[in-house]
Amino acid sequence: MKITKAVIPAAGLGTRVLPATKAMPKEMFPIVDKPAIQYIVEEAVASGITDILIITNRGKDIIEDHFDRVPELEEALFKQNKNEFLKSIKEISYMANIYFIRQKEPKGLGHAILQSKSFIGNEQFAVLYGDDVIISKTPVCKHMIELFYEFKKGIIGVQKVPEELILKYSSIKTEKIRERVFKCTDMIEKPEKSQIMSLYAILGRCILTPEIFEILESTPPGRGNEIQLTDAMKTLANKESMIAYEFDGIRHDIGSKIGALRASMHVAMNHPEIKDDFKILLKEFYENLNKIN
Ligand code: UTP
Repeated sequence: MKITKAVIPAAGLGTRVLPATKAMPKEMFPIVDKPAIQYIVEEAVASGITDILIITNRGKDIIEDHFDRVPELEEALFKQNKNEFLKSIKEISYMANIYFIRQKEPKGLGHAILQSKSFIGNEQFAVLYGDDVIISKTPVCKHMIELFYEFKKGIIGVQKVPEELILKYSSIKTEKIRERVFKCTDMIEKPEKSQIMSLYAILGRCILTPEIFEILESTPPGRGNEIQLTDAMKTLANKESMIAYEFDGIRHDIGSKIGALRASMHVAMNHPEIKDDFKILLKEFYENLNKIN
């Protein structure tokens, strides 16, 4: 069966980037001229996804508004002959069928995914974390879907990270199958130093089978008293193994201050309209580095 559905969890509290997230979801942080979540929806669409469920919570209506039409703005742009802008804002509303559901309490990523149970039904599906923007030549989600068709098993997107970061993320047990592809039979969320299985961490993307819902329903709260997706995937990996894919792309965690800044810089460096000005700006900052305290 083809993978056509994706879930984007975007109901986290975003505490690491407060106070910016007091009234605005981090998924709406602008990365130059588009909100972060638009990059993620674009990656899903470029991977063949046609139906997307975004998990939101109270105060995240702004995400819904972004994917809706705005007749008065369209009319104003039309009258001003700003056709490029008009086209770009209209297109956003027709990229995919986008649905929304609210996670009523922020009980963790696993609990957020559980909210998609009736939307997904009995299909396999992609999960793209709402705060992980990945910039790559070809969409990471697309490669992962292809791997799913090959192995018929859940796929996790991973990258190698330094030891101090693996303690904050998750660590997986790997057995190499071929370049960038591993068999994974175990994993742990936010390991202690002695529990590290490898420096490969699960970062922002996975392809899951519907069995995950039953597992999530019986997964007790783990780290941070939240229902962790990693704990549920561990059960799946222990039972039938999963495939880890070391993706080729640069991942930006826009839920961290430096990550959000880095994402903007990466996009600005390649943005046709501003890249030249941005390089001048960077040079200016660099030359004044020793004056900054
Ligand atoms: P994070 O753990 O990075 O998000 O979850 P967070 O909880 O907002 O982070 P901090 O620690 O408070 O800063 C990864 C993704 O899962 C979503 C988040 O919105 C993010 O896109 N998430 C997390 C939910 O949808 N619901 C939750 O209960 C937790």
